[in-house]
Amino acid sequence: MTLDDISDTLLDEASSPTHLREALDAFARLCSNVTGVVPDRSFDAWADDSLLKDGVAINPEAAAHCVKDYQRSVVFIRAVHTAINTASDRFANQPIEILYAGCGPFATLLLPLLGRFHAGELQVHLLDIHQRSLDSVGQLVEHFGLQSHYIHFVQDDACRYQHPGSPHIIITETMQKSLEQEPQFAVTANLAPQLHGEGIFIPQKIEVELCLAHLDAETAAFKRGDAPDLVALEEAGGRYPIATVFSLIPDQAAALEQRACQSSSTGMIELNPVNVTIPSVAHLNNFDALLFTRVQAFEQHQLLDYESEITLPLRCTEMAPLKPGDHYRISFQLGNYPKFCVTRLCDG
Ligand SMILES: C[S@@+](CC[C@H](N)C(=O)[O-])C[C@H]1O[C@@H](n2cnc3c(N)ncnc32)[C@H](O)[C@@H]1O
Repeated sequence: MTLDDISDTLLDEASSPTHLREALDAFARLCSNVTGVVPDRSFDAWADDSLLKDGVAINPEAAAHCVKDYQRSVVFIRAVHTAINTASDRFANQPIEILYAGCGPFATLLLPLLGRFHAGELQVHLLDIHQRSLDSVGQLVEHFGLQSHYIHFVQDDACRYQHPGSPHIIITETMQKSLEQEPQFAVTANLAPQLHGEGIFIPQKIEVELCLAHLDAETAAFKRGDAPDLVALEEAGGRYPIATVFSLIPDQAAALEQRACQSSSTGMIELNPVNVTIPSVAHLNNFDALLFTRVQAFEQHQLLDYESEITLPLRCTEMAPLKPGDHYRISFQLGNYPKFCVTRLCDG
């Protein structure tokens, strides 16, 4: 499979899940053969990860492994393609400037698309904290004969980086489910204000919602291949949405960060505290309190519950056992390991 075949398959809405998987596996194989970077989810357990002030930057092997979160990769690549076409209409007769922060060793969300554009149409800035990842992408650019494109490599911390100019498109996927561990929030808060006024930030929106649901039954239903629809949810025992606990919209991120305050209980800096009350529902003991993450990459290109590793639910163990009327405070805690912090306020 050539890079063009891979990109055709990934963008074709009629491609089956099997064909999409095969195309992404072929992409990873090609990249590994050229660079020697082999995808590995837990490469030496945290070895070579960079523990930054605002979250963990995963090592190049683990970042390469993200390719294999198949639906994630497909949705983001399609989102980036749509965004480039939208930006080309919006900013006619000028090169589209793209900043891709956290590109990893394969620049997965953009590299498969570059061959679809002529030299001079795009100006690409690839940024990562890991020089080894940038070196790897450099080898790929040469191997795939993409040198005629303007591609600039930047080794820096995306939570601090100041770009000279205002990119038309910013892409960053530095997250895990529930925005835990990696610095997606801090990267967004730093970079979104640097976007061109009419530019496009990918992802456009990330939402985290607290629900009561049955984790094991839902997971089993979705593993069987059922679409995450209402019937599957009902069969898994039903679901009760409690509250949206976080909405990350790029052009609001910096203001949200400015309103951050120090938690009196943990001493950590936290955002957006939300108070919730556990409702009285039949068989409450059988439910789990779960955080669901939904990602709108761009326009119709979205990742919903269970569709990818980054939209798997996270169990709030702090809320077990669930009791009707119990009050909790949920905030998003910043720092070197970002995560949601759940504190019990009082019994009902
Ligand atoms: C989850 S991987 C994603 C890799 C690739 N973009 C993809 O989507 O397949 C995140 C990447 O972001 C990089 N990264 C994380 N935090 C960063 C930061 N603060 N500054 C620069 N790079 C960062 C990591 O080194 C890693 O390569």
